[in-house]
Amino acid sequence: MAELLGIGCSHGPIILTPPENWHRSRERIFSRNPNFQAPPQLIKELGDDNGLTQDIIDQQKVVEAFQVMRDRLHEWNPDVVMVIGDDQAENFQQDNLPPFCLYTGDEVDGYPFRRAGGKDNIWEAETETRFTFRCPKDFSRDMRNSLIRDGIDMASSSKLNGWDWGLAHAIINPLVYLDPEGKFPLLPLFVNCYGEEAGPDYPPRPTAKRCYEVGQSIRRFLDTRDERVAVVASSSWSHSFLAHKNNCSAIDLETDRRYLELVRQGQGSQLATLTPEELQDSGDHEILNWIIALGILGDVPAEIVDVRESHTQLAFRVAALWG
Ligand SMILES: [Fe+2]
Repeated sequence: MAELLGIGCSHGPIILTPPENWHRSRERIFSRNPNFQAPPQLIKELGDDNGLTQDIIDQQKVVEAFQVMRDRLHEWNPDVVMVIGDDQAENFQQDNLPPFCLYTGDEVDGYPFRRAGGKDNIWEAETETRFTFRCPKDFSRDMRNSLIRDGIDMASSSKLNGWDWGLAHAIINPLVYLDPEGKFPLLPLFVNCYGEEAGPDYPPRPTAKRCYEVGQSIRRFLDTRDERVAVVASSSWSHSFLAHKNNCSAIDLETDRRYLELVRQGQGSQLATLTPEELQDSGDHEILNWIIALGILGDVPAEIVDVRESHTQLAFRVAALWG
């Protein structure tokens, strides 16, 4: 039987950035949308200091939540940390766009501060700062083989052209908090959460149902193994700039609060029924990472460490633990 620890967290680049600079990302993203209409709650949060007071509160809460999750992870001392995150045209380019891909190499690097927003990081680290992780090559190959024999056509890569960039931000950003020294072997799983939203040549994102099935198949494999695995779902939920029903201007709070209750109560399998249209409308593209994790962990209640609902953050951020 698998011994599992679940962690759910955000990977938004602003988690690395001093709150004094959050307004820059916000303004950049708002300016991309010619139909942007500021929702009333956003106007309230911006107040008379362009959101700085709210940003300081939110940043502090995000950091505190990561501290709780980091402590639990290190106390638990896993054999493998599996991070499930989406690629946003970083490691995967037009030459190769799989719905899912497991990393099967033996080492991997990340450069979290190379990305816009990461340069002004709260540690004042150099842009080229490198984080190196050992990877459980044999374990990940066994997992891939098990998935394929179980009917899940999992892609794998031990070398990609896109690796020159370093790990996609969805994988590396949470690790800056959770395991910056690379203490634990890292197993990245990439998911094409953005689908057509990333460009006309991108295939559609996999369905919620398929993501849940991938998680269940991973669990069947883990149940045959002795390794203790921490499963990290890396993503925020509704993004304001992806929430089509809100004119790509506001987070879909109502929908995400509903999903949060399901996760809290151990009914996450219900998220497997979400349709592609529902995900597209509410801007919950990235929740697919969590749905895979929920398929692995099963219907067990989550301990909700923190929830950030501010429109100033551009995304609904949940920090959670299972086990
Ligand atoms: Fe993201």
